[in-house]
Amino acid sequence: MSDLNGQTVVVIGGSSGIGFAVATQSLRSHASLVIIASSSAQKVDNAVNGIQAFIQQSGLIAYVTGKVLNMKDSNQIRAFFSEIGQLDHLVITSGDPPILGPFKTLDLDQARGSFDTRFWGAAVAAQSAQIKKGGSIVLTVGTVIKKPEPGWALVTGQAGATDSLTRGLSVDLVKRSMLRYSTLAPIRVNIIAPGYVSLWDTVPQDAREKMLQEAADKLLVKHVVSADEMLVLCIRCGFITGETLHVNGGQTLI
Ligand SMILES: NC(=O)c1ccc[n+]([C@@H]2O[C@H](COP(=O)([O-])OP(=O)(O)OC[C@H]3O[C@@H](n4cnc5c(N)ncnc54)[C@H](OP(=O)(O)O)[C@@H]3O)[C@@H](O)[C@H]2O)c1
Repeated sequence: MSDLNGQTVVVIGGSSGIGFAVATQSLRSHASLVIIASSSAQKVDNAVNGIQAFIQQSGLIAYVTGKVLNMKDSNQIRAFFSEIGQLDHLVITSGDPPILGPFKTLDLDQARGSFDTRFWGAAVAAQSAQIKKGGSIVLTVGTVIKKPEPGWALVTGQAGATDSLTRGLSVDLVKRSMLRYSTLAPIRVNIIAPGYVSLWDTVPQDAREKMLQEAADKLLVKHVVSADEMLVLCIRCGFITGETLHVNGGQTLI
């Protein structure tokens, strides 16, 4: 497993949850610059302050910066990557609330936009990001791609599209050597399908602990996953590409 020594890690969705944890874990793995982005300026500011405090407490020599970015807006995504320049690893955890409900009753015309953040946002980001040789892109879905629950049909379709995009990108960003995106190849592209993660910032602490303990009790491994376990798999192992990494503690087997 390689260290992230001196590398730049960009986390879109880094203002909370998995993205925030990946940002701090990247610094623990000696990344020298972490750039987080999400759509709320206040959340970005709060997260940058939190990460700066973490850097100081840990005595690390590293930098964090934050930018406001709406993954629904392709022009914003292009401008963002043009402004930040070259980077080593791009992690995308951004996602808006899923559109759930009995399939027959869903307003599909309205629901079309649900592909914007997670699918089209990821596609535009992968096209615009200037990833250095040896770098990687990590996308995020959920266990729904393997084990959909009733009411999750549309989310399953969107997640499946993003999942398949991963394999396409892992080939396309490397092999088409006449295209400009490939000049910095090899770039690895993977996607994480997490089960229960130990990060549910929006749920009050008492309820969160109870919910996660109940989830852990049901899982084969008897614990929920930490950001560290995911980071190691996707960013630091240089031999994984085009893969969907099911990091769910056996959730789809129970
Ligand atoms: N946590 C879990 O247990 C779990 C399990 C399975 C799958 N997942 C998936 O993993 C991903 C991350 O989960 P999480 O728990 O870390 O979620 P989270 O805490 O809700 O974080 C989502 C992040 O995405 C950002 N975001 C939302 N809409 C955006 C947009 N249009 N443009 C840019 N940023 C946007 C949010 O910030 P702003 O509000 O500032 O935009 C936030 O930083 C999600 O896709 C989720 O579906 C999570």
